Amino acid sequence: MTWINGLATGALLLTVASAAPEKREWHPTVKNSQILGNMADPSLNRDSCGSCRMGGRAFWTCRDSQPYDGNHNPTLPVWSSSASWSNLDNTPPDLFMYGGGSAGHQTPYFPYTATGECGENSAGACPDGTRYALWPDSPPAVTSDDGHTVTAYTWISKQHIRGLETVDKDPATSLYKMTYEHGAADRDALPQVQLVNENFWLYNGIPYGAYGNVVKDGTLYLYGKPSNGKVALAKVPVGSVEDHSAYEFWVNGSWTRSLPGKDDQGINIDNAGAGGQGTYYFSNYWNKYVWIGQPGISVAANFHVTTADSPTGPWEKPVLFYEGQSGTFDLGAYSLQAHPGLSHTGTDKNEIYITYTKNDLINNLNVYTTPLIYIEWN
Ligand SMILES: *[C@@H]1O[C@H](CO)[C@@H](O)[C@H](O)[C@H]1NC(C)=O
Repeated sequence: MTWINGLATGALLLTVASAAPEKREWHPTVKNSQILGNMADPSLNRDSCGSCRMGGRAFWTCRDSQPYDGNHNPTLPVWSSSASWSNLDNTPPDLFMYGGGSAGHQTPYFPYTATGECGENSAGACPDGTRYALWPDSPPAVTSDDGHTVTAYTWISKQHIRGLETVDKDPATSLYKMTYEHGAADRDALPQVQLVNENFWLYNGIPYGAYGNVVKDGTLYLYGKPSNGKVALAKVPVGSVEDHSAYEFWVNGSWTRSLPGKDDQGINIDNAGAGGQGTYYFSNYWNKYVWIGQPGISVAANFHVTTADSPTGPWEKPVLFYEGQSGTFDLGAYSLQAHPGLSHTGTDKNEIYITYTKNDLINNLNVYTTPLIYIEWN
């Protein structure tokens, strides 16, 4: 029965109306999956990595990183973020991560402010037992690449934690800028990084960009998920990322220039993610926006996917498509990420590489691994 036929028959009106949300349902399914090994810098124990493609290589940013001791046990110091490269000359891409001086460079890649955030400690640990955990939640957004210089940005919420509990539920969000010159002679050198604005999004606001981002046709879309669980969206021209006045916000079904509050009605985009950490990207093959990641209350490697024709939605209901092995720690698997930049042809093929952090308790120490999995879709 077609839509028009239904409308023409008065008795069917109700049926048609309630069936309407289902009419565009589409879910990717897996044809083939393969565990390729662990992405790793052999000298570092490294948590929660995400990647983007930069100057023909994969550029990775990770959370807590630390060296190993002589017995290959993770040891001190811990620094709150690190970054590295991996090569994309082969298929599948290399597992080896390198650069940034590796274990020798024991300061956070994303710098702390000169004063505050307890940045005197490389992990942001404060004398009162709390910690400023400046952890990247999503991969850098590459906003321009003119063949000489690559520019990218990352938003990091200034999480203030005690143990794994948050002290400030909705901290301010800092904006970091990365710059990379193509063909740098030193293959180990990382993109230069600077803190543009410590409080780019203010305390108690929406951390746009921290939950994920996607660049398409000259526009950067930034997702933010405050502590109330809503997923809100902003957009900005790729050349104006540092200019607050250039941002627009998705509220009640249209773009507005006035910044909404985190508890305002009409900011949430249903199903734009499953609630946990993940990655947004645009798939040329599907001609759709994609989110891949973890459900909100989950510590398992249960990868979910949802798609949409527009970053504003409507998004499909996220569905499970791959289950990875969990580690032995209580929080056994998290930071589920997709890596569109690892595909040779961008996202033109019907495939995606995914990773997660597998957390194993070994000798009473947390050992992180980053399994890389190849997914071929039907
Ligand atoms: C969205 O619309 C609702 C209903 O009209 C209104 O109450 C709410 O304030 C609007 N949201 C914003 C952020 O203006």
